Amino acid sequence: MANIISFLIWQATVYSYGLFNFFLYLGLVVRSGTFFSKPTEQEQNEFLLARDKYWNLSRTVFDLHHRFLVLRNGLKLHYLTNIATLDPSAPQSKHLVIFLHGFPDNCLSWRYVTDSPSLRQNTTLVAVDLPGYGGSDSLPRYGATEVMEPLTEFIVAMREKYLRVDDNDSGQEESQVNKVLIVGHDWGCLLGYRLAAEAPSLADRFILTNCPHPQLALSNKDRILTASKKMMMTFLHAPLANYHCFPKVFDEMKPLAYQVLLFGYIAAFQLPKVMVKYLGCGGNYAFIREALKSKHGKDKTAFNPPHSLAMTMGPGQAECRTTTDHGKPEQYGESVFGRAKDSDEWFVSATAYYRDGAAFDKWEKSIHTVAALHNIAVDNEACMKNRHSRKRRQSSASSTLFSDICASSLKAPATIIWGQRDQACTQPICLNGIGDYLARDSQVLLLPNTGHWTPIEKASRESLKRILEKFVQNGDLQKEDLQEAVRMTYPNAIVSIDK
Ligand SMILES: *[C@@H]1O[C@H](CO)[C@@H](O)[C@H](O)[C@H]1NC(C)=O
Ligand SMILES: *[C@@H]1O[C@H](CO)[C@@H](O)[C@H](O)[C@H]1NC(C)=O
Ligand SMILES: *[C@@H]1O[C@H](CO)[C@@H](O)[C@H](O)[C@H]1NC(C)=O
Repeated sequence: MANIISFLIWQATVYSYGLFNFFLYLGLVVRSGTFFSKPTEQEQNEFLLARDKYWNLSRTVFDLHHRFLVLRNGLKLHYLTNIATLDPSAPQSKHLVIFLHGFPDNCLSWRYVTDSPSLRQNTTLVAVDLPGYGGSDSLPRYGATEVMEPLTEFIVAMREKYLRVDDNDSGQEESQVNKVLIVGHDWGCLLGYRLAAEAPSLADRFILTNCPHPQLALSNKDRILTASKKMMMTFLHAPLANYHCFPKVFDEMKPLAYQVLLFGYIAAFQLPKVMVKYLGCGGNYAFIREALKSKHGKDKTAFNPPHSLAMTMGPGQAECRTTTDHGKPEQYGESVFGRAKDSDEWFVSATAYYRDGAAFDKWEKSIHTVAALHNIAVDNEACMKNRHSRKRRQSSASSTLFSDICASSLKAPATIIWGQRDQACTQPICLNGIGDYLARDSQVLLLPNTGHWTPIEKASRESLKRILEKFVQNGDLQKEDLQEAVRMTYPNAIVSIDK
């Protein structure tokens, strides 16, 4: 009974706070004039042309090819890659880099990183649309299992497709040097944290940027609440003697209160779907346009409303009639067509990740997933035995012991890149203490001048590119590689943790 009551109180609090933010955001965009600004005819035409440019399947976009993968259950995922056609006779001697985007983005958000000539030549680049985003099919529900299962199946399939091991012995030696890197931003980063903790064999390293590790954020919250409560109790016990404790309660609570304020949009996304839709798309996408405007940091000239919107909203009905240019002609999945017909539906599926428990719920792995992960782990091990088990492997094996202690700690090496001016995620709640969750050979890189959009903002995207190039060059990343990579692009970046 007590549980039910506290659940109801929690729900009511979230709803009221969501409502408050709903009106706050609408008020803000009305006040700024964004809400009532109608697109000109020229802007509308530009939008249609831009949509064709980014989502017409018969063309390349940013020199990348549109491709699809159909999963066992029929779900069709869209991705971009630099590999036009796989030549089965060519030796596969490339590292594989898989990019996972965030909210409200899609595969196109990596365009400033994938243009590196050395990455294009020497790696297989795969930028996927998460289910419900861009050109990928929607899911009926976006809980942890519903999201992690197709994502894992996709990554396993990409490994099989682009990272084939030859039977030829000398060829094997060559192809086993190839590494898999998973790069995630925002929701892609959060899902990356989960993969690194719960399916670490999928990649040799994770590069994760600007999203809280869910368990870490919770434990930071709990720590602050416990400390504040203690101080409050001390004060109440003897108010006159302990009067100095009273202001300290507020000091302690400040970072948490600030984070709750910034995460107000998450509460607004818990409202009924019609309201969420109105929030995102009312007033000619006023809310989204304001969000997109912040993407380039200080460089406001880089914001082009029709283009930004066309990228974010995914394919329209015209693009859903186009087909891919190679092999068997393919089209976007059926639910993508459904989203295109109701031009605001994409916002509902994009925000569903916040509603359906993708961050915190238990991921119930299917037997397929368990088997696939096991096979990869066995292959990795065999490969390492052949190569006289190098130091790095040993260290990640020893970190498996730690897994029994803390299920949400990472078991694969990770490089965390943190834009310290993040407009949504604050460092005291979302990053501090991350060292306890990292495996050996992990680092944290702080970028003092960058906000939330590390793959988009100029200085941070150049650094990210250099860091990926370093990974490709050396087959891994050490602290020195990071420092070398940011020396020219981001002189005041700091490696704050090196494990
Ligand atoms: C690709 O890798 C090879 C071998 O490491 C290197 O010589 C070449 O310069 C790289 N290509 C680019 C464009 O950097
Ligand atoms: C294995 O690969 C090497 C070099 O890549 C080649 O010379 C050799 O003929 C290959 N052997 C077989 C059995 O395919
Ligand atoms: C897509 O691109 C092709 C090739 O450039 C063009 O012929 C076609 O008209 C475009 N499709 C649509 C629906 O715009």
